Amino acid sequence: MLVQLNELLQDANAKGYAVGAFNCLSQENIEGAVRAAEELRSPIILQLAEVQFPCAPMELMAPMYLEAARRASVPVAVHLDHGQSFETCAAAIKLGFGSVMFDGANLPFDENVAITSAVSRMAKAMGVDVEAELGKVGDVGVDDDKVDVFTDVEESAEFIARTGVDALAVAIGNQHGRYVATPKLNIARLIELHERNSMPLVLHGGSGTSEEDFKACIHKGICKINVATAIQVGIADDVKRYADSTERLDYITMKGIMVEASQRVVAEHIRLFESNNRA
Ligand code: 13P
Repeated sequence: MLVQLNELLQDANAKGYAVGAFNCLSQENIEGAVRAAEELRSPIILQLAEVQFPCAPMELMAPMYLEAARRASVPVAVHLDHGQSFETCAAAIKLGFGSVMFDGANLPFDENVAITSAVSRMAKAMGVDVEAELGKVGDVGVDDDKVDVFTDVEESAEFIARTGVDALAVAIGNQHGRYVATPKLNIARLIELHERNSMPLVLHGGSGTSEEDFKACIHKGICKINVATAIQVGIADDVKRYADSTERLDYITMKGIMVEASQRVVAEHIRLFESNNRA
């Protein structure tokens, strides 16, 4: 069933688990994710990031996401990930996304506040929930050398009060993409952020995080964890194994392999996030 982000995050926040937000780039990917959620009786979030539009256009993906959510026997939210402008957030709302993220983390603080507030006012008027980001979640290999990238505790409280967002993505040493080595998250900073703000917090760059850090996060205020790379790697590896095992590739068989790989990786994360049997 199609539900709103807030409904999922509030339950997770109250009970100390996290809902997986899975970036899905194809019908096979979506189908596998929903099957995993149904198999484990877990809520999930299907999401698409603006940087992914060139390979998965939002206008084509939105109807598929929404219909998969409506048909699911467990709660599924449909979310825009990393919207880069007010206009993209508005377009996603028009297409039926139940929640949007505006990512102004690279902007000066006041500019991030101004655009996030405008997105928040528009979204609220349409009954849509909003995630925003403060602090810098880098890309692996791009800005590894940045020093003070963690979300500031006092700034986070001011940001939340001024923007009225429903969930805040924090930077605690997490990065997007394939890690070269397992990262060590700043759990002490997460605890401070959680104590200062009662709001559901979001962890981006979930792929490759250690089990220990995942567990610490979900018990210390992280209610939504984004996973993209791990699913893509899982699907690509299984397709390669299939391709290596046969003289003649069969497209329908390959589609089935993609669905199963997506289901397997999403199920692994659902268990780690302890959202199984919460639907
Ligand atoms: P990963 O690709 O590292 O899993 O990050 C996903 C993400 O944070 C999407 O917003």
